[in-house]
Amino acid sequence: MYSSHVVKLNDEAATLSLGEQLAAILHPGLTVFLHGELGAGKTTLVRGILKGLKHHGKVRSPTYNLVEIYKLPALYLYHFDFYRFNDPLEWEEAGFREYFNQDSICLIEWPEKAGEFLHAADLHIWISYSQIGRIATFKAETEAGEQCLSHWQERASD
Ligand SMILES: Nc1ncnc2c1ncn2[C@@H]1O[C@H](COP(=O)(O)OP(=O)(O)OP(=O)(O)O)[C@@H](O)[C@H]1O
Ligand SMILES: [Mg+2]
Repeated sequence: MYSSHVVKLNDEAATLSLGEQLAAILHPGLTVFLHGELGAGKTTLVRGILKGLKHHGKVRSPTYNLVEIYKLPALYLYHFDFYRFNDPLEWEEAGFREYFNQDSICLIEWPEKAGEFLHAADLHIWISYSQIGRIATFKAETEAGEQCLSHWQERASD
């Protein structure tokens, strides 16, 4: 059983800052599922991660295009949003399968909409509404995901 971890996010700045911290521990080859209701803050978290990875341009929600691609100095980051995914053929035709490789980080909003097509996640992050802001819950699903979480906890306790 892999560990889970909870973080309070009182405002948007906290979500962005969590993303920046995550940028330091994510590495190519990882797949992260981002769960949470509409407007929970999944794209905001990705914005923070990209900021931490020194991406200076815009970060658009991939709601309509299904994926936004970021070519960074050391890796590719693919930000998916499958909310509107409804055609399994699209998966093969768009070449999504090839995006999941050792040179890329894949961050996925609404993974359940892509069902069986998706590569399993190393890490799950749930963002839920709370009385003050949001709460993020992390859970690792693979050894690689578990290692990420323990690196993150080591850094947090420094
Ligand atoms: N910790 C927080 N507390 C309060 N508001 C927040 C927090 N984090 C993000 N927000 C706000 O919540 C909204 C989240 O929007 P965002 O597009 O990130 O959600 P999403 O989960 O990606 O939604 P969708 O499923 O529609 O793509 C933004 O307006 C953002 O400013
Ligand atoms: Mg979003």
